[in-house]
Amino acid sequence: MPYIDDLVAGNPALRGLVNWLDDRLDIKGPIDYQLNKNVYAPSISWTNCFGGISFTLFGVQVLTGILLAFYYQPGSNTSFESIKYIMDTVHMGWLIRSIHAWSANLLIGTVFFHMARVYFAGAYKPPREFNWIVGIILLVLTIVIAFTGYLLPWNQLAYWASQVGTHIAGTPPLAGPYVEYFLKGGEDLTTATINRFYALHMLVLPALIGLLIGAHLLMIRRQGPSGGL
Ligand code: HEM
Repeated sequence: MPYIDDLVAGNPALRGLVNWLDDRLDIKGPIDYQLNKNVYAPSISWTNCFGGISFTLFGVQVLTGILLAFYYQPGSNTSFESIKYIMDTVHMGWLIRSIHAWSANLLIGTVFFHMARVYFAGAYKPPREFNWIVGIILLVLTIVIAFTGYLLPWNQLAYWASQVGTHIAGTPPLAGPYVEYFLKGGEDLTTATINRFYALHMLVLPALIGLLIGAHLLMIRRQGPSGGL
């Protein structure tokens, strides 16, 4: 069984650091627990990879999103120009933007495959009902974060897709018109809309998704994997 003391035994600098941290934060116990936790996996297949792939792609989105935010300027006069600047002038800007866009599409696909795997394996059954519900919320938020990102380039495709999307949000009775007005920040798509979508896209939704992924993984850690396919 691996213990943190054995792992750092051959490296005096690392051993010193671990002991120094352990004196202050008591870290050895929790690390040893994680190192020796037995994960019982009755039958794992390649289809079990989709949850982890989705998690990795979410990380890619956060990283490339932060880099894009260094240059992106929300606003009806600036959004399109700043995207052009990222594509044409910023060093490797085209690559970072393309990775962000491709990985967003892939993420939607892998989350769907992941959900299909969970469904066909019956992994939503007790005791994993809560994690299924957290998963459904994650799916909806993943779609919403993709939708809010779609408007940001402020090109023709983005503009008209957002017209359609916000209109759909406005169709349910009672709350619908208020939701549409809230999303648009008025009657029309304007700079106010871009700012709202941007705030949702790069602050609110990533924070919510990050928290829910944390809860999702904690439950998986506690319950262990189900039988799989
Ligand atoms: C951003 C979205 C998501 C991420 C990052 C994510 C991540 C993961 C990871 C890493 C696992 C463990 C490995 C695996 O079984 O694949 C897992 C398991 C699970 N996920 Fe997700 N997931 C997401 C969305 C969803 C959705 C949409 C659902 C269903 C509606 C869902 C329901 C579950 C359940 C029930 C398990 C336990 C499966 C088992 O024990 O066999 N997840 N998830």
